[in-house]
Amino acid sequence: MATICIVGAGNIGGRLAKRWAQLGHQIQLATRPDSSRDTQGLVDAYPHNIKALPAAQAAQGADFVVLAAPADRAFEATQALGDLTGKVIIDCMNAVFRKPVGYPTTTAAIQAASGNDRIVKCFNWIGAENIDDPTYPGGLAADMLMCGQYPDDKARVAELVTPLGYGHLFDVGGLDKEPLLEQGALIWGALAYGAGLGRNIAFKVLIKD
Ligand SMILES: NC(=O)c1ccc[n+]([C@@H]2O[C@H](COP(=O)([O-])OP(=O)(O)OC[C@H]3O[C@@H](n4cnc5c(N)ncnc54)[C@H](OP(=O)(O)O)[C@@H]3O)[C@@H](O)[C@H]2O)c1
Repeated sequence: MATICIVGAGNIGGRLAKRWAQLGHQIQLATRPDSSRDTQGLVDAYPHNIKALPAAQAAQGADFVVLAAPADRAFEATQALGDLTGKVIIDCMNAVFRKPVGYPTTTAAIQAASGNDRIVKCFNWIGAENIDDPTYPGGLAADMLMCGQYPDDKARVAELVTPLGYGHLFDVGGLDKEPLLEQGALIWGALAYGAGLGRNIAFKVLIKD
């Protein structure tokens, strides 16, 4: 079982905390003095698996750090964690509307704040509801995408992501593919809101034998 620090216990981070706690992982939620969100409900629901810690302590002892804060806060949210040497960072954020000031992407901001380029982008291309339950009628399950520089890190992230129940986790390449994953999120939004399909939608890759 892994120890996972999660920054941002909102739609994405709160759901990941709950699902991974249910699977037996240890979750360390990073809190801030000016946080408006109460993390106590998650801690009370999973007292053996979820604890809330000040940001400066939350990444200590963690194997993974999950960033699920607003994209324009990527730099400061990462910097508040302190030393992230040796940790694999999972970036769930989308900078298409709210870019981190001074950086073109959230992974660029994370890398600048931490000096760590072991970043895997994942979870960003479909709505957070799919974390609760990625399954759909007809025995189908939503597919997930990730990109990152290091194959070993992506393999480790796959060990966390696949048990959540996605159909397939596709590795689409290095971090140069990050803008592509964010454009994918825009397509999801265009269908959910523009085309009126609602948020309970996801994507499936069809493969012929
Ligand atoms: N929602 C989705 O369906 C979805 C899907 C894919 C990707 N994403 C991406 O995932 C990220 C999070 O989205 P969300 O919907 O989960 O947002 P959310 O529900 O608003 O949660 C954001 C969390 O970040 C925390 N936060 C705010 N400022 C922070 C800071 N400076 N440092 C650390 N934490 C901070 C917030 O805490 P307070 O509430 O206490 O301020 C909150 O817990 C965004 O980048 C979004 O683009 C979202």
